[in-house]
Amino acid sequence: MTDPSGQIDHVLAESRTFPPPPEFTAKAVFSTMDQYEAAYRRAAEDRDGFWRDEATEHLHWFEPFQEVCRWQAPNAEWFVGGKTNASYNCLDRNIDAGRGDRTAIVWEGEPGDTRSLTYSELRTEVAKCAAALRELGVGVGDVVSVYMPMTPELAVTMLACARIGAIHSVIFAGFSAESIADRNNDAGAKVIVTADGLHRRGKVLPLKETVDEALAKSPTVQKCLVLRRVGQDGVSMQEGRDVWWHELVDKQSGDLPAVPLDSETTLFILYTSGSTGKPKGIRHTTAGYNLWAKRTFQWVFDHRDEDVYWCTADCGWITGHSYIVYGPLSAGATCLMYEGAPNHPAEDRFWELVEKYKVSVLYTAPTAIRAFIKWGDEHVEKHDLTSLRLLGSVGEGINPEAWMWYHRKIGNERCPIVDTWWQTETGGIMMSPLPGITATKPGSCTRPLPGVFPKIVDESGQPVEANHGGMLCIAEPWPGMLRGIWGDEERFIEQYWSKVPGMYLTGDNARQDEDGYYWIMGRIDDVINVSGHRLSTIEVESALVSHELVCEAAVVGRPDDLKGQAIAAFVTVRGGEPDEALRKELQQHVRNQIGALAQPDDLRFAAALPKTRSGKIMRRLLRDIAAGHEVVGDTSTLEDYSVLAKLRDED
Ligand code: WT7
Repeated sequence: MTDPSGQIDHVLAESRTFPPPPEFTAKAVFSTMDQYEAAYRRAAEDRDGFWRDEATEHLHWFEPFQEVCRWQAPNAEWFVGGKTNASYNCLDRNIDAGRGDRTAIVWEGEPGDTRSLTYSELRTEVAKCAAALRELGVGVGDVVSVYMPMTPELAVTMLACARIGAIHSVIFAGFSAESIADRNNDAGAKVIVTADGLHRRGKVLPLKETVDEALAKSPTVQKCLVLRRVGQDGVSMQEGRDVWWHELVDKQSGDLPAVPLDSETTLFILYTSGSTGKPKGIRHTTAGYNLWAKRTFQWVFDHRDEDVYWCTADCGWITGHSYIVYGPLSAGATCLMYEGAPNHPAEDRFWELVEKYKVSVLYTAPTAIRAFIKWGDEHVEKHDLTSLRLLGSVGEGINPEAWMWYHRKIGNERCPIVDTWWQTETGGIMMSPLPGITATKPGSCTRPLPGVFPKIVDESGQPVEANHGGMLCIAEPWPGMLRGIWGDEERFIEQYWSKVPGMYLTGDNARQDEDGYYWIMGRIDDVINVSGHRLSTIEVESALVSHELVCEAAVVGRPDDLKGQAIAAFVTVRGGEPDEALRKELQQHVRNQIGALAQPDDLRFAAALPKTRSGKIMRRLLRDIAAGHEVVGDTSTLEDYSVLAKLRDED
């Protein structure tokens, strides 16, 4: 089994457990193990009954559903025949329940500007934006690309699409023009919403310029709505195509009602990396996803009315979709939203925000935690963090050292930590401690939530014994599951449903210990996890070989103290000796092709790449070389040993 993150050894040795603090348990949503076991059992024995009750109680229905789950692997339909609306569930439903004056979003920009929106105010903004999108020709089933900074308008745009049955496709604002164009074209986007720029570490990034470049290659996009965020001068606006947010949205009346939509109406697509070069548009639908995001939020974050909840993700990723927008807002939570970097203007920015807004529930990523450890405890110690009561982690496995620091320094040994395992495809959290009842073990996502039935199987699809690693699959459908890959049914079946018949293949390796706890052990495919973001090594390779001087490229992950995995590229080039200038040029080339997050950390030139006799690149060898390990294992199939020797010497 491969362990690209190098974490398995620590994790196998981990035996500490941390029971939930009794005072936490006393008030918790799940406060006894019996309650969890009963819910888990009912979801197993009476799937339809369990989810019928959940959906009836926790979503608004314009028209009731007739059937709970129509399942014919791999196709699921949930709450068939019902009509609901995710924007209604997030906004109107709370307002109707008398919660209109509660703060929905409290926002801080990187420069320190702030805004706060109640549920009623947020609904007005969403309705205005929805009306504006309609004026731009957007209707049910149309795709709207969204390339925006972390401002309230980003959430507003998502909810505005949901309000009128349009499909949002949010593209993280760090992606390149090329990546935006690919996504626009794959989705057939009709409109794009963007901003003049965004603030990042004190600088302004000109988003609209990037979008202009993308639109030159995006024939389906007819209109571009532009938010003025940074007040950039000289933004070029193309007559007939581009329109300012403040000119179009602000003049709308703000009373546009939510459209009743079939349960299975596509709510959004979100592109993520798979094991090929082409990102896939993961498709989620309205009712099942909305219910999953809401209930998992309430269960895992133990939501209480008095909470101030902060998820530090960006809405460009699934974490932002489910746990900044749809989950917490459906639950009527008060959410902090922050635009910028954790170390601007100084390394204590997060802790300043926690203190200032009295954040009680904090959800962040191991890569951020490792950066805080590196920056030093003094930044944390300057601030009063006593408002915190619960901490969460997502994006990759949290190494026990980071877990312990989070527990001691941020949680003051008082706050449970929920290590949440899930994926873009699962729509929401699948495995996590329930903070009032689960004794946690650093590095384990513990046990599945009600309605989740994990199975660990070997190559032949047979279940493995306790403590043996294997492929993690999910045996039954759940409401938040992906409904497909946009425009590519074949790939959907091939990727998730063909290797182990009848079960959803997650792509992760896992192990279950003697207490039934799950430990995630890295990917089974060529996907790497860089700072909690998924990247396909082949995607980076394709970007490299698109450069005219590159003949061949192989990309692997190597362990990195901060990012979890860093990107190492091995490249063969044509036309003379490669030099430092070419190395920089190739790194920049990948940045232009995909975005800064894909830029290789190491780039080594080689005369040839090590291959098997059948011509397959020997990735295991390259991984060892990239990690600086001695190459171990069977190399007898190596085509040319001298290649290996050259690669090793190259530093
Ligand atoms: C992959 C999904 C989940 C939302 C953010 C990332 C890895 C995620 C954990 C965790 C171990 C984790 C898995 C998974 N992963 N959370 N708590 N422990 N690994 O979503 O980009 O779809 O990536 O991230 O490998 O398959 P994503």
